[in-house]
Amino acid sequence: MSDVVYIEDLAGHEGETVSIRGWLYNQRSSGKIAFLQVRDGTGVVQAIVSRNDVSESVWESVGQLTQESSLIVRGEVKADERAPGGFELGLEDLETIHIAEKYPITPKEHGIEFLMDQRHLWLRSSRQIAAMKIRAKVTRICRSYYDDRGFTLIDSPILTPASAEGTSTLFSTDYFGETAYLTQSGQLYLEPACMALGKVYCFGPTFRAEKSKTRRHLLEFWMLEPEVAFAMLDDIMDLAEDSIEHVVQTALVECADELEVLERDTTSLQRVQKPFPRISYDEAVEILAGAGEQFEWGDDFGGGDETVISEQFDRPVMVHRYPTVVKAFYMEPDPERPEVALAVDMLAPEGYGEIIGGSQRIHDHDLLLSRIHEHGLNEDAYKWYLEIRRYGTVPHSGFGMGLERVVAWISGLPHLRETIPYPRLLGRIYP
Ligand code: 4AD
Ligand code: MG
Repeated sequence: MSDVVYIEDLAGHEGETVSIRGWLYNQRSSGKIAFLQVRDGTGVVQAIVSRNDVSESVWESVGQLTQESSLIVRGEVKADERAPGGFELGLEDLETIHIAEKYPITPKEHGIEFLMDQRHLWLRSSRQIAAMKIRAKVTRICRSYYDDRGFTLIDSPILTPASAEGTSTLFSTDYFGETAYLTQSGQLYLEPACMALGKVYCFGPTFRAEKSKTRRHLLEFWMLEPEVAFAMLDDIMDLAEDSIEHVVQTALVECADELEVLERDTTSLQRVQKPFPRISYDEAVEILAGAGEQFEWGDDFGGGDETVISEQFDRPVMVHRYPTVVKAFYMEPDPERPEVALAVDMLAPEGYGEIIGGSQRIHDHDLLLSRIHEHGLNEDAYKWYLEIRRYGTVPHSGFGMGLERVVAWISGLPHLRETIPYPRLLGRIYP
């Protein structure tokens, strides 16, 4: 059909007769007039059917349509200020492609477990469509940020012999008689790559067998990880700050329509401007003490602690220099205070928690080897990683940004499960 258009392009076709292919989102009828809400993935448009203006068979077909039936509507594009998107369709013809069975998701409220079971259908609702579009746009904004600044994309492997972030959250699988793990982070592969290419990043799925159910944890999530040769902790904090400011401010413009669908109040996002506050772990512990929280120096922050700390600030806060004992084996100790690591976490406002975790890496071969032993890791699996420290080793740093956490924060979605098309959660691998 030559006159097929997408709903998002209707503005360029005012006064023309066009066809739209999609699904029936909703309908209402008042005797001689029917209003069909048709969606096609790019938007929703109302097609108005007047019984007197269409053939008997078209009017009959309209009466048979059920929610989510697939169809092609043909009619004249008319400007209407009251219509969402500014246009509606005066329906002239209708072709039904498939009459949908009774659709399980209706405009009434459903329980979350039910909706999660129906995730493959739930994706069709306007809020979910908005969330998926924001995710896709934020992905693109992030990629361009690094592409435009001379970073080379390095795709790290999904199947790996070594753990990056502790052995308690590994998914393992048989690799022809050897054990392979699903990657927890691409970092160990980026470090060698930055010695080849200077500035690199990876962006892909990562896996953590998290045995707890929280709104901030997925078993499979996407992480964007930059790694930069010669960069020190401060450099990587600058990069974290600049990239998050860029991503949020660009998303506010590019995702404006979707944020409106989600009814996101964006005032706090407007404030995400450099410089972000930078506090040490010690200062963060003082904040917790001041707020009357039970917390001991040397512990890691829980989700609740992160919220208390971030509530002190009106934009993301970077917490640096964590106790070495709570952080990963590869982190460079602070030369002035070896009991703390040159690590940084960025905590988002509004209770969204840690969106970035990173550090300066140990670049001395022998220190790294002793840390591998202290952490009870199998030296053989890290030989290649250690080797980087034998051929022109240099200080280097990087971080990982959790895509779903950033999308949840920007979108104002309280739970990560709505920020990824098919969430993997404890006790759930369906659909
Ligand atoms: O702090 P993490 O564990 O850091 C690393 O994996 C480093 N190797 C990254 C690096 O330096 N290249 O994870 C980084 C980020 C967290 O700040 C958080 O945003 C996200 O990944 N994240 C999760 N997101 C969803 N579900 C989970 N289970 C997550 N675990 C971490
Ligand atoms: Mg972390």
